[in-house]
Amino acid sequence: MTHVDQRRRTLCMQLLGGLAGIVIDGPVMARPSVDEAAKVFRLDGEGVTYAFGVNSEGQLQSMYWGSALSSQDRLPAPVPVPENSSNEMPVTITPFEFPGFGGGLTVEPALKVTFPDGVRDLVLRYVSHQLDKDRIVVRMKDASRAVHVTLTYAMDASTGILARSAVVENRTASWIQLDQLAAASINLPYRDDYRLSYLTGRWGGEFALQTRPIEPGSTVIESRKGVTSHQANPWIAISQAGTEEESGPVWFGALGWSGSWRIHVDMDALGGVRATAGYNPFDFAYRLKPGESLASPVFHAGYSADGFGGASRLFHRYQRERILPGAPQPRLRPILYNSWEATTFAVDEAGQVALAEKAASIGVERFVVDDGWFGARNSDKAGLGDWVVNRQKFPNGLAPLIKRVNALGMEFGLWVEPEMVNPDSDLYRTHPDWVINFQGRPRSEARNQLVLNLARKDVYEHLLTVLDKLLAEHDIAFLKWDHNRAWSEPGWPEAAPGEQQKLYVAYVENLYKLLAELRRRHPKLEIESCASGGGRVDLGIMALTDQVWTSDNTDPFDRLLIQDGFSHAYAPGIMMAWVTDAPNYLNKRVTSLEYRFLSSMQGSLGIGANLNHWREEDFAAAKRLVAEYKAIRSTVQRGNLYRLVSPQRGAARSSTLSVAQDGKQAVLFAFLHSGGRRNPQPGIQLRGLDPKRNYSLRAISGSATAQTPQVASGAYWMGRGIDVVLEGDFQAAAFVLDGA
Ligand code: GLA
Repeated sequence: MTHVDQRRRTLCMQLLGGLAGIVIDGPVMARPSVDEAAKVFRLDGEGVTYAFGVNSEGQLQSMYWGSALSSQDRLPAPVPVPENSSNEMPVTITPFEFPGFGGGLTVEPALKVTFPDGVRDLVLRYVSHQLDKDRIVVRMKDASRAVHVTLTYAMDASTGILARSAVVENRTASWIQLDQLAAASINLPYRDDYRLSYLTGRWGGEFALQTRPIEPGSTVIESRKGVTSHQANPWIAISQAGTEEESGPVWFGALGWSGSWRIHVDMDALGGVRATAGYNPFDFAYRLKPGESLASPVFHAGYSADGFGGASRLFHRYQRERILPGAPQPRLRPILYNSWEATTFAVDEAGQVALAEKAASIGVERFVVDDGWFGARNSDKAGLGDWVVNRQKFPNGLAPLIKRVNALGMEFGLWVEPEMVNPDSDLYRTHPDWVINFQGRPRSEARNQLVLNLARKDVYEHLLTVLDKLLAEHDIAFLKWDHNRAWSEPGWPEAAPGEQQKLYVAYVENLYKLLAELRRRHPKLEIESCASGGGRVDLGIMALTDQVWTSDNTDPFDRLLIQDGFSHAYAPGIMMAWVTDAPNYLNKRVTSLEYRFLSSMQGSLGIGANLNHWREEDFAAAKRLVAEYKAIRSTVQRGNLYRLVSPQRGAARSSTLSVAQDGKQAVLFAFLHSGGRRNPQPGIQLRGLDPKRNYSLRAISGSATAQTPQVASGAYWMGRGIDVVLEGDFQAAAFVLDGA
């Protein structure tokens, strides 16, 4: 954990107080070391070495990031790249750990500062360092002005994942303005065959995996929307030509920040490749008074020699063991029912009780009432902001419903969208100044709503008070926390002169503080991060929320691609996936209930169908599959994921395998888009099993014929594989392998 991470975690810890399970430091430590003579620093974790040093100019220079080196290997002191031509000055072609904009730097800086006298030149030099448990802290300072930067490098021993961040402190006598601040600049070894993978999307189509060659020039992925966004997710992976799913090098990283962010990947004129990740410099300006400081978000970066599969397994583990609430052993996700697709805004006590009874009958563990329960909320036109129970819909409040839900053996959960307001609401009528806006300019609405300025103290306190009251007065185990629009007119008229743009950072800091404080006051509370589906999924929000809503697109076939993209970056255990109705509300596709279940069972299972329309056989099938899921969920949610057959590029088939950490159970899912017996369906070779252990195979569900023995060794299942033959449109099968 980095210094900033630690600071934020400490803040969260102070706020979280009694929240069980949050771990400040994991049990195993990485080894930070320094060669004092050469001023070379090393972090060694499982399978990975990261090294940097101080060069003759006092600059921090990247040296190595890749497969673990021997502890005996001595890296020579770094040397700045000599001037190549008068157009490529050494600062621009030397790989720096944290370059300031200055001294001729023309590649992407990690920090850019404007001083009151108009100087915009920052040359950072090494001052001191400190080794502490799993981390190295390096202090740097501008060549002449008192701008101090503290870099933290913390490596998680068991995954070799490095958390990097920076704190900038103004020790000058006047203000300085930060125009740009990144967590880190990370340089890759010199190679000429890199590929960049990243995730893009839109509402209903999140986590689309993109890959392109890295060539001279830049690739920018970013959000300017105030929120993480659907459009791009702050995760990248850099591979080489020839890297495959299970082999070859992959360098990967993700930024833990839920506001506007940017990752800039570029190749300079001499072929050096670097990634710079941090606050989005677009429209960024953050003034620091004398004595003030600003911390960057944390960039979490890892390396795997085992392809994209190896990279994502490491990252999933890191998220479970280091990031998520409850780490290193986050609670298994309860199976939930959510009424949104069944009832939309038409919620009332009788209707919800009827659904709850049906949900309980199939083994659901948590019942969630979505939008529509509060204020004058009968559509998306009114009521947002008024977090009081609608007495027309719930004449006796929520208590009788919660009591019934609890009596049925389920936890109760509720949807909220605290950061938003409809102009047609009591809150907005009372506090029209509480929204993000530019003085005297139109306030653009989206979904008939505006964004509250959570950076304001009064807005923060109001939200804390109303949400705390809601949670104190009701037995609420879970909040689905939504954020349904991108920002517009990002102004903060009441801010001190020159400080309006602090909004981008202050808003998100208060969001984190609010979530942490609510969790501290209500230690059993769990939270889902939702933003019109998967618009706020990142490692920042993940530290404070237990699960995420992957997409409003609940079509089980579309989901295969969305889930595949998601799994490249994020842990399947937090990926909520509901079984909803057919035809699907969004694309009208008709699929069988079983197919819908199997698609959802690849993540954390939920049900979002209108149970009032189910037939007896649907309940029977659902009950059986819910019970099956309970028996495999620990493997799916905490196991190692192998993407055996990719659904990308319109593939006819796809398949995943989850293997329990102890190797004793594995779960195989296989899907066919369209086809038949005559289409070749090669056997699926499993991975990650214990070759010597015998596993018995059992079909959980599905229409497949599998020509296979019932019991065989891990070596057999991995070598010979299973012939899963599916026939027709949208067919699926799932098998569990139990090890003896
Ligand atoms: C967003 C969410 C949905 C649902 C609606 C309610 O779109 O992503 O799941 O909660 O809001 O208005």
